[in-house]
Amino acid sequence: MKRNTRTLLLVAGILAGGATGTGYSPGATAQSAKPKSGEGDDLRAVYATAADVAEGRRVTESCSRCHGPNGISTTKGVPNVAGQRPAYLYAKLRAYQAGTRGDHAMEGAVKFLSDEALVKVAAYYASLEPAQPLATGGAKAAPARPDPVAAGKAATAGCAGCHGEGGISKTPGMPSLVGLDPKYFAAAINAYRSGQRKHDIMKSLIAALSDADVKNIALYYALQKPARAQTPAPGDQAAGKTAAAACAGCHGDQGVSGNPANPSLAGQDAQYFASALRAYKDGSRKDETMKGLAAALNDRAIRDLAAYYAAQQPQPPKVEKPLTTAEWVQRCDRCHGVNGNSTDPRTPALAAQRVEYLVKGLRAYQTGARKDSVMAAMSTSLADADVEALAAYYARQRARAFVYVTVPYK
Ligand code: HEC
Ligand code: HEC
Ligand code: HEC
Ligand code: HEC
Repeated sequence: MKRNTRTLLLVAGILAGGATGTGYSPGATAQSAKPKSGEGDDLRAVYATAADVAEGRRVTESCSRCHGPNGISTTKGVPNVAGQRPAYLYAKLRAYQAGTRGDHAMEGAVKFLSDEALVKVAAYYASLEPAQPLATGGAKAAPARPDPVAAGKAATAGCAGCHGEGGISKTPGMPSLVGLDPKYFAAAINAYRSGQRKHDIMKSLIAALSDADVKNIALYYALQKPARAQTPAPGDQAAGKTAAAACAGCHGDQGVSGNPANPSLAGQDAQYFASALRAYKDGSRKDETMKGLAAALNDRAIRDLAAYYAAQQPQPPKVEKPLTTAEWVQRCDRCHGVNGNSTDPRTPALAAQRVEYLVKGLRAYQTGARKDSVMAAMSTSLADADVEALAAYYARQRARAFVYVTVPYK
């Protein structure tokens, strides 16, 4: 195959002595993860001849109205296919033909092509010079994914005066916010918003916060090192411990809850704790479960419970710090090659792909509209902002073409 490319990848000999295509090895590059075996294992498109490529070109006359005359798309939602990896292209063409990749336009386009034609078309598109970032449109303005924890910290500037640095209260009556699960945290904020929890000061303080702000703030507090509130907790801890047996089922042993619906109580400021129970009792904080439980507690029991829980060691909730775009890219590059320049003919290149097509693809793996177990697992924990940032990142990368050359066995 004659191609105008810059990079040469040597593929250890398959064709010598009539051996057939199973001996592919992906060269000395950073790309190490082995894709699962399956439909993409058919490497015929990798070993196509110049005549095959010429034949493939003829077939693509019907494709160019969408994919562009050189495999470089100018249409939103239609991917660039020029320079895409040959075995991947062939496998996907087969998937469209079999109706397993769910795209009507493509199903119609390949319906009447023979298997041989699909091999040749894949070889032809793979042989073309790939698109470069400037031609991909819309990829220039890349939204940098802000670090949610740093953003959360910045947004808590106005909270620390009451709730303490890092959410560890120093003021009696002010709850510690450290050690709380982000889901509970967000629910508490919403309860102030809706009036289910009546507190005019908190309501006005959070009025300007967006849902994203609240998420970031909750994440920031959840990742701080927990410590007990630095406030007095008068009361009989031993008596509180006995009474707390009735609470452990929901709030956890020693007040560390395993369920985000039930807040952790360990290390909580005692005065706030007591006022919360009184609020459940008098109905100013609405919660049927806690109302019933608090009704049975007199002031002394409340004080003892508060003292007991204040003395317990709070623990960090089970929350992982989200990855930055750069950290994600490291993971994606393991399969997709350095900056999305895959060296494996079975794994798609992402570099300089159209940004909105990358977004669409990632969402499709997330929702299951595209079925691929590897990409489903990889994309499941991507937030919308990650999807957009990663798509923008890869769309901006310089695309490098690869030629897969067969060399005889020594
Ligand atoms: C009517 C417009 C249209 C025509 C004609 C068309 N395509 Fe496509 N093609 C698309 C769209 C849209 C997608 C993206 C579908 C998806 O999201 O899975 C696509 C996807 C592909 C892919 C998958 C690329 C990837 O990165 O996964 C390949 C390969 C492809 N087309 C090849 C062809 C070939 C070969 C022909 C001609 C035989 C052709 N297409 C004709 C619109 C078209
Ligand atoms: C003027 C003091 C003050 C400031 C400033 C303040 N809060 Fe509060 N916050 C309180 C008080 C008092 C309560 C307890 C109210 C109640 O009884 O429901 C509270 C309760 C909360 C709770 C519920 C805790 C729980 O255990 O259920 C959350 C969450 C919270 N605040 C978040 C914030 C955030 C986020 C900020 C900054 C944007 C903030 N607060 C700023 C005084 C303050
Ligand atoms: C059946 C489960 C359940 C049991 C048992 C239970 N709780 Fe709760 N508790 C909850 C839930 C759910 C909430 C959150 C309600 C809300 O959103 O206001 C809560 C909230 C609280 C709060 C407010 C915490 C905060 O940060 O604002 C305190 C204090 C509390 N419980 C104390 C107790 C004590 C003391 C007992 C035992 C006497 C107890 N709970 C038993 C489910 C339970
Ligand atoms: C373990 C290997 C592996 C990792 C890690 C991986 N991918 Fe993939 N990716 C694949 C394979 C294999 C495919 C082809 C799936 C298919 O056939 O639809 C693919 C397909 C894609 C596609 C569709 C490309 C096209 O042309 O339609 C996108 C977009 C993508 N991956 C993005 C990512 C991103 C972003 C990450 C990191 C968050 C990532 N991938 C991590 C193996 C991987």
